[in-house]
Amino acid sequence: MISLRAPAKINLFLRVGGRRPDGYHDIESVMQMVGLYDVVSLRPRRRGIDVRVQGADLPAGSGNLVYDATAALAEEAGIAAGASIRLIKHIPIGAGLGGGSSDAAATLIALNRLWGLRWPRVRLAELGAVLGSDVPFFFHGPTAWVTGRGEQVRRIARPRFVGETTPSGWAVLVNPGFAVSTRWAFEALQSGSAPVARRSRGVPERVGLSAIIGLTNHRSADTIPRFPGAPALASCPVENSLESVTVLEYPVIEEMKRRLRDAGASVALMSGSGPTVFGLFPSRADAVRAHAGLPLAWKGWLVKLLRRIPW
Ligand code: C5P
Repeated sequence: MISLRAPAKINLFLRVGGRRPDGYHDIESVMQMVGLYDVVSLRPRRRGIDVRVQGADLPAGSGNLVYDATAALAEEAGIAAGASIRLIKHIPIGAGLGGGSSDAAATLIALNRLWGLRWPRVRLAELGAVLGSDVPFFFHGPTAWVTGRGEQVRRIARPRFVGETTPSGWAVLVNPGFAVSTRWAFEALQSGSAPVARRSRGVPERVGLSAIIGLTNHRSADTIPRFPGAPALASCPVENSLESVTVLEYPVIEEMKRRLRDAGASVALMSGSGPTVFGLFPSRADAVRAHAGLPLAWKGWLVKLLRRIPW
């Protein structure tokens, strides 16, 4: 049996570009693994896929990314064997934390070992991209510059935010207890219901950010194995294009950000399509205090920004 801890991610930066012919949107993002984990345990079995979930109301069959990942890998690798999978959920669902994508990546990594496939990570990540746009990141964290629809991933050093004083590596996550659909958020942004988000898609800003990260001279399809020494993002704008649309629909997000800032967060931002918000704190002690002071109606986690990929 193999048991893996599947970490959540936060988007330290997320800028959404235009809609692509395939219906997805081009993005530019800095993704960061954090120390909030699901646990995925797998055992090989002669045939069939048996999924048991603890801690969340998820399907045991198709639609559950651990099931879909197993079926996809078996088919691609031409494997007749099956797997028994136990998934313990701690990462909330539909939260902007990439929990399902991380579970899928953990499943592919574990099955690659259990079935003796010896696929390189890049190949697993390519298969992962078919399952979900955030999946490839989980093969290449803990911090990465992510482009395309999410499938182009380059590991980078943890950036410093504009206005951030002492980057401590501690964050507080806050979730209001409901889910937000990623598809809905992208569609709402596209339909132009959020004036702030529209402004953030301007060409000059895109050029500016490329210059900051120093990627202008590289092909966008560059991946980690070819560029192990990707440049550090010197100064990262505090921005999430999807935040304005989600805030418009769920104003509690603004309230959660305000609480984190009042508690001393140097940066407070929504992650992904939300509704989870994270605050970065100058010290662990500040983060502990902020976490302890959160209203009981919200879920909160004190987490570390991971410095190493857990698999
Ligand atoms: O890839 P994933 O299944 O996670 O995406 C969920 C939905 O979010 C997609 O169906 C699409 O509507 C939207 N999306 C997008 N552009 C991306 C990622 C996701 O439009 N880069």
